[in-house]
Amino acid sequence: MEVKLITCGLPYANGKAHIGHLRTYIPADVYVRYLRLMGKNVLFICGSDCHGTPIVINAEKEGISPRDLVNRYHEHFKKIFSAVGVEFDFFGRTDSDYHHEMTVEFVKRLIENGYVYSKEVELAYCPKCRRFLPDRYVEGICPYCGAVARGDECDQGCGRYLEPGEIKEPRCKICGSKAEFRKQKHFFFRLTAFKEFLLEYLEKLRGTENALNYAREWVKKELKDWCITRNLEWGVKFPGEDLVVYVWVDAPIGYISYTREACRVKGCDWEKIWIEGTNADNGIRWTDVTHFIGLDIVYHHCIFWPSMLKGAEFALPSAVVASGMVKVEGKTFSKSRGYVVWVEDDYLKEGFHPDYLRYYIVNYTSHQKDLNFSWKIFMEKVNNELIANLGNFIYRVLHFAWKNFGGNVWDVLDASGDFSVDEEVKKAVEKAKNEIVKAVSSWEFKVASDAFMELSGFGNNYFQSKKPWERVKTDKVECAKTIANCLQIVRALVILAYPVLPFSMEAVGKTMGIDVKNSKMDDALKFEKVNVLEKPKPPFKKVEEEKVEKMEKIMLERIRKAEEAEKAGAEKKPEIVAIDDFLRLDIRVGKILKAERIKKSKKLMRLEVDVGNEVRQIVAGIAENHKPEDLAGKLVVVLANLKPARLMGVESQGMLLAADVDGKAVLLTPEREVPPGSRVR
Ligand code: 2FM
Ligand code: ZN
Repeated sequence: MEVKLITCGLPYANGKAHIGHLRTYIPADVYVRYLRLMGKNVLFICGSDCHGTPIVINAEKEGISPRDLVNRYHEHFKKIFSAVGVEFDFFGRTDSDYHHEMTVEFVKRLIENGYVYSKEVELAYCPKCRRFLPDRYVEGICPYCGAVARGDECDQGCGRYLEPGEIKEPRCKICGSKAEFRKQKHFFFRLTAFKEFLLEYLEKLRGTENALNYAREWVKKELKDWCITRNLEWGVKFPGEDLVVYVWVDAPIGYISYTREACRVKGCDWEKIWIEGTNADNGIRWTDVTHFIGLDIVYHHCIFWPSMLKGAEFALPSAVVASGMVKVEGKTFSKSRGYVVWVEDDYLKEGFHPDYLRYYIVNYTSHQKDLNFSWKIFMEKVNNELIANLGNFIYRVLHFAWKNFGGNVWDVLDASGDFSVDEEVKKAVEKAKNEIVKAVSSWEFKVASDAFMELSGFGNNYFQSKKPWERVKTDKVECAKTIANCLQIVRALVILAYPVLPFSMEAVGKTMGIDVKNSKMDDALKFEKVNVLEKPKPPFKKVEEEKVEKMEKIMLERIRKAEEAEKAGAEKKPEIVAIDDFLRLDIRVGKILKAERIKKSKKLMRLEVDVGNEVRQIVAGIAENHKPEDLAGKLVVVLANLKPARLMGVESQGMLLAADVDGKAVLLTPEREVPPGSRVR
């Protein structure tokens, strides 16, 4: 059977897992589990994205090697994924030999096919650190919108991706020095050659509208060739040069290198997937690959990546599924501002069940829309939906069967000789199953999870209307029929809800002898005998209000600290002032008439300065690097309306303006002779 490859965007091995990550990975895992229930042969892969400047910079800050930093977070992600039930068939890393090999092969194919050329470019260079400043090593001004930008992205302004050398007024991020521009040879990918191809590819590509619409709009605009090399040690070496491949070139190639490794273990054929493909259509060789990604990396997956694949003669992915953005307590997700939920510290270590978060993420809203995580809504969804509806029904039925029939209703029914599943029960199960199949095929996981919740709601009503707790006293056979019907519904629920709630449904399944991991979707419709084999437990535990209050407090405290830190940072930076603020200052040119040292002070000098209409006595900290005899007659710049102050007992009626050079005052002076008292504007 043909393999369906499902991938997730590779997380940077540069920090801990948060809810923003799970927003993509959990729905992808749910999708894979549903596909498997439907009998598809799926390969589900992902891995760490180990290269790029942020990793090198963070490692440098911690005084460790990039490899050590990557090791730490690679292990962290593996642990978190397993704890929340995201089960990849293979979780690789891009700093591995197999990935470097694949990337080099890939890049060589692009070169051979004429899609790579070299060009001299002017790049930011730090004379103090004596190095080129790739991507996040440099900060400056965005050439498009004028906002403060990072070397590779205008993250606080227009959001544009910036090519090396584009940034204006660059500064070294490490030492703060002003960077200069120096020429160096770099390599470019001829993205512009793929415009026609992209127009057609994006027309036919499947996926969520949020991704497709965005990409289709982009490709209509002007494409630019793309610099694919960087001055770094850490990364995949560009063939024959002292440069590495840009991280956004090597990362997606991870999808291929991981497939090759996964196939080595699983015995599938990676070339069939990535080279041969499944079908060709007007020059486009398609492959059954679906990329699950976040909305922020649509450009890379719908424009760069297909062009790279086409240029290197690989097959082309058939779908891109982008998850909507994440909000936390109604505010845009932001680690630096404290609007974040850390999967390990805030969720797992606090003892919350992974299935609750899976349900929340899948069921809160459509996969394409913004997801808001709020602790209160979390509690309500768990307590009022999962527990009050699904958990209640499952436990009620299993408990009743256990208590009144020792878990086996069939003895009573067999003896009575007539039993068949109620039509309305069959219909309800069929409806749920059909809705799920349809919803999953269009990545509508909310609709799918609503469908099993609705089936459970149906079960609750059915149970309630048949009043088995009364019947059991009057007509045990009728009562057994009701419970047998209900057990069919529970069985269907275990199977249909398993992809979203794998831990809980596996446990319920075990109580009933159902091997849900190896079940198929149609088993939900089989209506076979099923018993309760052990004393059942409620499948879910309530989320307590106090616990949620505690989590809200933690979050508020984090937000408060972030605000404080931001304020402290803002104090260091000069604030923006209005022209009126500037005009309040009386700055004038003055002429020094007399200068003398102040006794017992190394630094201070007493000056008499003509400021136009009067002579002022001014005390200035310039004695260390000026001689009194050099100062008389000199034109200076004076702040004339500064509140008078006494320094070493001498009143100062103003202040001289000077440049601060390593703590020494270098006096400002007008460009040519001007009359004392001239206003400075
Ligand atoms: O944006 C990110 O987090 C990247 N690490 C995603 C890479 S996805 C792929 F192209 F490898
Ligand atoms: Zn520097």
